Amino acid sequence: MKQFLLPSVLIVLLGVGVASGGHVLVFPGEYSHWLNMRSIMDELVRRNHSVTVLVSDASPSINYNDTRDAAKFNFIVFRVPFSRAEIHGVTEDFVYFSTYKSQQASVLQKMMMMQNWLRQAVHFGLLQCDAMLKNQELMATLRDARFDAVLLDPMIMCGDLVADVLDLPLIVSLRFSFGNAIERLCGHAMAPPSYVPAAPLPYRDNMTFSERLVNVGLYVFTSAMSQWFWRTNIDHYYSEIKGRPSSVCESLGRADIWLIRTFWDITPPRPAPPNFKYVGGLHCKPGKPLPDDLEAFYESSGDAGVVVVSFGSIVANVTTGLSDVIATALGRIPQKVIWRYKGTKPKSLASNTKICDWIPQNDLLADPRTRAFLTHGGTNGLYEAVYHAVPLVGVPLFADQPENLARLQYRGAAIVLDIHSMTSDELTDALNAVVNEPRYKNNMQRLSELHRDRPLSALDTAVFWVEFVMKHGGARHLRLASRDLNWVQYHSLDVAAALLAVIMSSCALCWAVTCCLLRRCRRRKWEKQD
Ligand SMILES: *[C@@H]1O[C@H](CO)[C@@H](O)[C@H](O)[C@H]1NC(C)=O
Ligand SMILES: *[C@@H]1O[C@H](CO)[C@@H](O)[C@H](O)[C@H]1NC(C)=O
Ligand SMILES: *[C@@H]1O[C@H](CO)[C@@H](O)[C@H](O)[C@H]1NC(C)=O
Ligand SMILES: *[C@@H]1O[C@H](CO)[C@@H](O)[C@H](O)[C@H]1NC(C)=O
Repeated sequence: MKQFLLPSVLIVLLGVGVASGGHVLVFPGEYSHWLNMRSIMDELVRRNHSVTVLVSDASPSINYNDTRDAAKFNFIVFRVPFSRAEIHGVTEDFVYFSTYKSQQASVLQKMMMMQNWLRQAVHFGLLQCDAMLKNQELMATLRDARFDAVLLDPMIMCGDLVADVLDLPLIVSLRFSFGNAIERLCGHAMAPPSYVPAAPLPYRDNMTFSERLVNVGLYVFTSAMSQWFWRTNIDHYYSEIKGRPSSVCESLGRADIWLIRTFWDITPPRPAPPNFKYVGGLHCKPGKPLPDDLEAFYESSGDAGVVVVSFGSIVANVTTGLSDVIATALGRIPQKVIWRYKGTKPKSLASNTKICDWIPQNDLLADPRTRAFLTHGGTNGLYEAVYHAVPLVGVPLFADQPENLARLQYRGAAIVLDIHSMTSDELTDALNAVVNEPRYKNNMQRLSELHRDRPLSALDTAVFWVEFVMKHGGARHLRLASRDLNWVQYHSLDVAAALLAVIMSSCALCWAVTCCLLRRCRRRKWEKQD
């Protein structure tokens, strides 16, 4: 522990003295989440703030040993009792199941898999929580560093609890949670099920009756499941650390600002609390010149141009059968192809296709010679394509990818294929259509213009709000008061009950008076008759 911590502690303390701006503590997510968070961190550093990253030594995607990063950010590395391979394995299992197996699985099998996966994720998550919160030395270091704000991707468990314990302002950054449960239940974002489709349903905002039925069902299901899951698995830990009954939702609900990584160019409009900021595409930037080998490759493509292929940072390789289907299709198009791929080389790989371990994706998409992008539809790649107006062929795998791609398909900027049934012919046809039919490019161009035309870029918006929180010690005045209300108060059921009581007693009174009058009338009539 010490050998890890001590050099970092020095950097942190130096950082406090030197930095002219604020001091941010970051809990970044992993994989593509990390890339996204980095954009904010880079910009914060550029604006002379000091950025400290709290990372476990088993982080599967954050290389805290990188000397260039270490010169920019202060890494505080803490030791956890599990290995990088173990934690990466959990993610891989999940991705593998969702991508290749979930299609054939029954609902029961899917639920079992999900439950099993969540159990493992929570197991490792709580070990990591212990490694932070029960490490007195680490907590003392964090306390002494006197951060101005905490920037958290909730993919990392307990970052919000650390912020809570240290009593620091909190900024949460996320793309979505299943059924928007975290945003709704903890962040108090409104989501009327009649026109706000629950993530990751690929519905439009004008839903049919049956879609609305499913939508309401998903909201109810995810609300109940999340509450139950938090209560049975996590809340006890929050209560133990805080020494009083508490919950993960209470901790996350402290967030001053929510940076949601999507925007109205893709997501259907919805009501949002004033502390919800939509910053989709914040990592997009103009392209840099290509490295020499790629530049030569692009040059060799002539007028036909290039197609870029990537299935994201987690799924670098695909199954053998599938990679052959893809390689065959790619071999048939007149364009040159750059394919980010790590598995064994497909047998049907053609000479127009170049395989790379890693690609400078943003720079490739920015190049006007790029004609199309074949992608799994992860949010980062999708926004880069929108930013640079590159039409897509999408092969969604899991999570929000089917939703992302469906939304571009509605706008006529993408063709979406099913990974399980797709043939080489279909893929070739789709690529040819997207490259040759101008409407795909035109629709993407229009989306791109809408995406870019705003008073403050997505990145500037995100960084503005981080700076705002640091400057004013939070943004409590933007938080909805609903977090202090209980369910009965929130839905005004107590008021409704009171009104109902008044109405009912007035009715009863009227009834009694009427009866009384009637009775008196009748008596008078009888008296006259007598
Ligand atoms: C950061 O600090 C340097 C040195 O003090 C200064 O020259 C530069 O203008 C500052 N940058 C910003 C964005 O404030
Ligand atoms: C960083 O360096 C330490 C010590 O040399 C090593 O134990 C650790 O595995 C390295 N981590 C990464 C992510 O390369
Ligand atoms: C929703 O709107 C789109 C385009 O405006 C239209 O094509 C679609 O048919 C509508 N769906 C429903 C269910 O009304
Ligand atoms: C991906 O590659 C890894 C090793 O590189 C291998 O273990 C795994 O089985 C591959 N996955 C698929 C789906 O082919």
